[in-house]
Amino acid sequence: MKFGVDYYPEHWPEERWAIDARLMKEARINVVRLAEFAWAKLEPEDGVFDFAWLDRAIDTLSREGIRIILGTPTAAAPKWLMDKRPDMYPVDEHGLTKGFGTRRHYCVNHPVYREYSRRIVRAMAEHYRDHPAVDAWQIDNEFGGACYCQSDLEAFREWLALRYGSIDKLNEEWGTVFWSQTYRDWDEIILPAYAASDGFSQNGGGARMTTPFNHNPGLQLDYQRFFTDATADYQRLQIDEIRRFSELPITHNLMGHFSELDYYKLAEDLDVVSWDNYPNNMWGKSSPASVAMAHDLMRGVKNRNFWMMEQQSGPCGWHAMGDTPEPGQLRLWTYQALAHGAEGMVYFRWRACLFGIEQYWHGILDHDGIGRRRYREIAGIGEELEKLSGLFVGAANPNRTALIKSYDNEWSHRAQPHNLRFSYGALLDQYYRAAARRQVGLDVTGIHTDLSPYKLVMMPVFNLVTEEIAAKCEAFVARGGSLVLTFRSGTRTWNNRMTEKTFPGLFRKLAGVELEEFDSLNFGRTVPVAGVFGEGTAAQWCDVLKLTGAEPLADYAGHYYAGTPAVTVNRFGQGRVYYVGCDLDDAAAERLLGYILEQEGIAGAIPPQAAAGVEAVSRRAADGRRYLVLLNHANTDALVKLQGRYVDALSGEAICDQAALSPYGVQILLEAEGV
Ligand code: GAL
Repeated sequence: MKFGVDYYPEHWPEERWAIDARLMKEARINVVRLAEFAWAKLEPEDGVFDFAWLDRAIDTLSREGIRIILGTPTAAAPKWLMDKRPDMYPVDEHGLTKGFGTRRHYCVNHPVYREYSRRIVRAMAEHYRDHPAVDAWQIDNEFGGACYCQSDLEAFREWLALRYGSIDKLNEEWGTVFWSQTYRDWDEIILPAYAASDGFSQNGGGARMTTPFNHNPGLQLDYQRFFTDATADYQRLQIDEIRRFSELPITHNLMGHFSELDYYKLAEDLDVVSWDNYPNNMWGKSSPASVAMAHDLMRGVKNRNFWMMEQQSGPCGWHAMGDTPEPGQLRLWTYQALAHGAEGMVYFRWRACLFGIEQYWHGILDHDGIGRRRYREIAGIGEELEKLSGLFVGAANPNRTALIKSYDNEWSHRAQPHNLRFSYGALLDQYYRAAARRQVGLDVTGIHTDLSPYKLVMMPVFNLVTEEIAAKCEAFVARGGSLVLTFRSGTRTWNNRMTEKTFPGLFRKLAGVELEEFDSLNFGRTVPVAGVFGEGTAAQWCDVLKLTGAEPLADYAGHYYAGTPAVTVNRFGQGRVYYVGCDLDDAAAERLLGYILEQEGIAGAIPPQAAAGVEAVSRRAADGRRYLVLLNHANTDALVKLQGRYVDALSGEAICDQAALSPYGVQILLEAEGV
């Protein structure tokens, strides 16, 4: 298993490198990622390449048996390059240029930047072709969101021309007859940047909208799609250069829940997904379920295991520091990632830097280069993984339930969230948490995924829909799968127009319901709901439903539609479709999901009441062995009640009835033979 660190030899005197390499080796580190921000050192002048220092660093590391993941350095372009063409800097929605001084200061669509990128990547790939220490490549670093410069405008027009074929078709799909937005030619197309009716003030106090802009929804959605394609194209440019010289695996480090790019598409050209996980930094603390969900999504991006490319290993932040990870937490985070599908573990960063905006971003060693508690903990994990890697590499999460995340839908919801307090991300998170509290493992993935292995598929608020998607869902349910749909499903076409079909549009047959009307709940108004899950409260949205085949599972208990169905179930072929017509408070949502899981015969890895604060993940190793990973996210002892017999994979001890976990403790329990 790759067990490594992100290392910046260019930040330290050469005399130090050998000490670092030795300390790494002693901590069982076997891989380092290098060079992803070192463009100015690798090409100090236009066309003048210097790989000698990096060669020496690699030699020093490989003398200790450490292998290399090489990053292409394009996320941090040198000043000499940016001075050549100031129009390569990114431009924001308000037309303001984002200048030099940090990183990611470029536009993926700028032809000159693309050529310079191609050249440095080609030079690097050629120089390191067949290098015995290099194991993999990382493209750029954490691709980000959209830009609004002239190069984007030109590329967007070309992208639209390819997509729609004729300007009339585009006008029809976007509905540009509205407010005289008709375009006569591709050259008239605009970017969805600041426009006359846009204003932050229009959002209303406390609104949750993340975009203040009021552009045509078709234009907005297509721009997001375009930007993913443009980024994937820039990434492909780099992949093509590497592939001229190397067949090694190529990755890019994604950012978990980050949703500006469609990660399913971005990852199509990658061999392996990797991602960067900082659960506890100056900007916030992620709940264990949110981190678990991010891991599950990262696994779902390619429906394959992934690598951690940056796993937090110290207190971190830019202007201030987040909490110091407590004893045991680094190990807990490591095993949480492994349990959810990581099969490579690279920590950020080896040593806290003495300069730059990340001088507070601590890693394994402190500023003084001394390894203390965190170093010892990492070394301990390294030792354990030498024994356990066979359980994690190639292992599967044999989940029977999928939660569908759609970036297209997310973008549509973000531009027009139906109700000002609605958030697609928050609703998905609520469904995930409800399953997590019942210890039910989920695959978080896209609707392109083969649904046949699943018993239950949840696709909340899937408002953009195509005939193909509806047909896929119908086939899945007809064959015996069960589907969860919710309010605002099937309300739009794939290009973000409202459908003229009666809601829930293309899902009507499946759901066995039709909307009579709906009610967006505002300014603190709530509606009580009661049914199979007990009582709950809607606070954002209520569909008023007419049953056309479905049966009610819950009714509204207030407002003018009291007594009408809020949640329904419909038999369709061999399967069932649940339609959840309203949002619910967390407790009710959890009970509703509990009811659905029970109906579908889906049990958690351990019973929900087995232990509070402990996450249990059920896995199957590459050799077929079944095991449980128990993760105590609390800093208090925990006892987990178990059914069945297990063997502790580390101590070899037999475990029956219960497992005792220390604060932040982890246990990996192999199912004992014959159970
Ligand atoms: C990541 C990034 C790293 C480092 C780290 C700490 O997002 O990839 O290069 O900056 O955050 O801020």
